[in-house]
Amino acid sequence: MDLFRKRSINELLQHSQKGNHLKRDLGTWDLTLLGIGAIIGTGIFVLTGEGAVTAGPGLILSFVISAIACGLSALAYAEFAALVPISGSAYTYSYATLGEFIAWIIGWDLVLEYLLAASTVSVGWSGYFQNLLEGLLGWKLPVALTAAPGGETEGALFNLPAFLILMIITFLLSRGISASKRTNNVMVVIKVSVVLLFIFVGINYVKPEHWQPFLPFGASGVMNAAAMVFFAYIGFDAVAAAAEETRNPAKDLPRGLILSLGICTLLYIIVTGIMTGIVPFMDFKGVNHPVSLALQVAGQDWMAGVVDLGAILGMTTVMLVMLYGQTRIFFTMSRDGLLPRRFSSVHPKYQTPFGATWFLGTIGALIGGLVPLDKLAELVNIGTLAAFTLVSIGVLILRKTQPNLKRPFRTPFVPVVPLGAIAFCVFLMSRLKAITWAAFLIWLVIGLIIYFTYSRRNSTLNQD
Ligand code: ALA
Repeated sequence: MDLFRKRSINELLQHSQKGNHLKRDLGTWDLTLLGIGAIIGTGIFVLTGEGAVTAGPGLILSFVISAIACGLSALAYAEFAALVPISGSAYTYSYATLGEFIAWIIGWDLVLEYLLAASTVSVGWSGYFQNLLEGLLGWKLPVALTAAPGGETEGALFNLPAFLILMIITFLLSRGISASKRTNNVMVVIKVSVVLLFIFVGINYVKPEHWQPFLPFGASGVMNAAAMVFFAYIGFDAVAAAAEETRNPAKDLPRGLILSLGICTLLYIIVTGIMTGIVPFMDFKGVNHPVSLALQVAGQDWMAGVVDLGAILGMTTVMLVMLYGQTRIFFTMSRDGLLPRRFSSVHPKYQTPFGATWFLGTIGALIGGLVPLDKLAELVNIGTLAAFTLVSIGVLILRKTQPNLKRPFRTPFVPVVPLGAIAFCVFLMSRLKAITWAAFLIWLVIGLIIYFTYSRRNSTLNQD
C-alpha cells in the first residue's frame, strides 16, 4: 500500500521551508506574462496551417473546444496551486492527494510535456529563423546544419539553430529568474503587439466568402484539429509550476492562470478567423508560416516580415517558460528523493537549480538538434492531457478526503467543472493517433522501471 503514501499538505509546506528553497519575487502581472510567454508560440504561428487544412474555417471552433478543456482544467489547477504553493505543479498536488506512485507518473509525464515542448518549439523557431536570415541577408546555412537527420530535408545531419537557441535559453535560466523574467516580459510585450498588428492590418483584407463552407470536413475535422491545436494552449500550467517563487500565491496564482489563458483564447479566435478569411483554407497545405502567409496574400510583405520576427520572439519565450517549468519540477522531485539529490542543489550566487537546468537544457537542445519533431507535438499533447485529467481527479478526491482544508481559491461548481475537464481531456486524447499512444505508453514503462528500481527506495518518505 505504500505505493499510495502521501505527503500531507502541511508537511509539504514545512518540507519546502526546511530544504533548499527558491527566491520569491513574482506577482500577478509577472505570472500572467509568464503564462502568455508559454502559451502563444508554435501552436498559433505554425500548427494553424495544418489545423486549417484539417478543419477548414471551423478551426475557430477547434480553438474554442481546446480552450474549454484548458479553462476547466485551469480552474482545478488554480485550486491546487493556491493550496499547495510549492514548486512542482501537478506533481506536487498529486503527491498530497493521490499518493507517491501517481505523483511520480504525473511528474514523469510532465517531463514529456515540458522538455519535449521546448524541443518541438526550438525546431519551429529554427525554421522561422532560417527564413528570416535568408529573407533579410540572403544567408543560407549549409544543408547539413539546417535540420535533423531522417526528416524531409535531404542531407541534413543536425539542426544547429534549434540546438543553439535552447543552449542560450539554458544559460539565461541558469543565471536566475530575475534575468529570465525581464527577458521574458519584454519579449511577451513584443509578441502580443505583433499579434495585434496582424489583427488590425489583416481584418481589412477578410473576404467573408472564404468562410464558406465553414465546416468542410464536418464535426470530425473540427475535433481532430482541436486535439492538434491543443498544443497552442499548453503552457498556462507553467504558471502553477512557479508557485514557490510567487509573492502571494493564494491571489496571484489563480489570477495569473485565468488571465493568461483568457487573453490567449481571445487572440487565437480572432487570428484564426482573420487568417481563414484572407486565405482559402486549402492554400495553407504544407505552409509552415501560415500567419505571415496571410499577410503576404494581402499584399502586406513588409508587415509579414514583422510578423515573422514576432513569431521568432514568441517562440523564444515559449522555450524559456517550458524549460523553466521543467527544471522546477525536476528540482522538486529530486528534493523529495525520487530523483538523484544533485538535481536539487541550488547555486550559491544565482539561487537557481543550476545543475538541473544545464542537464535538462542540454538534453532538450540535443533532441531539438537531432530528432525530426513533426509528430512530437501530439506526444506533448497526450502527456499534458493525461496530467490535466489527473489534476482534476485530484481536486475531486481532496474535496472528499479533506473537505475542511482552507482553500484560498475554490474551483466553482464542483463536481461539474472537474468532471467536465476530465471529459474534455479524455475526449481530446481519444482523437490522437495510435502511434502517439504507443510512444506514450513506452515512456510510462520507462518511468515505472525507474520508480521501482530507484525512486521508491530513495524517497524521503522512507527516511521520515
Ligand atoms: N503553447 C505553446 C506553443 O504553442 C507550447 O508554442
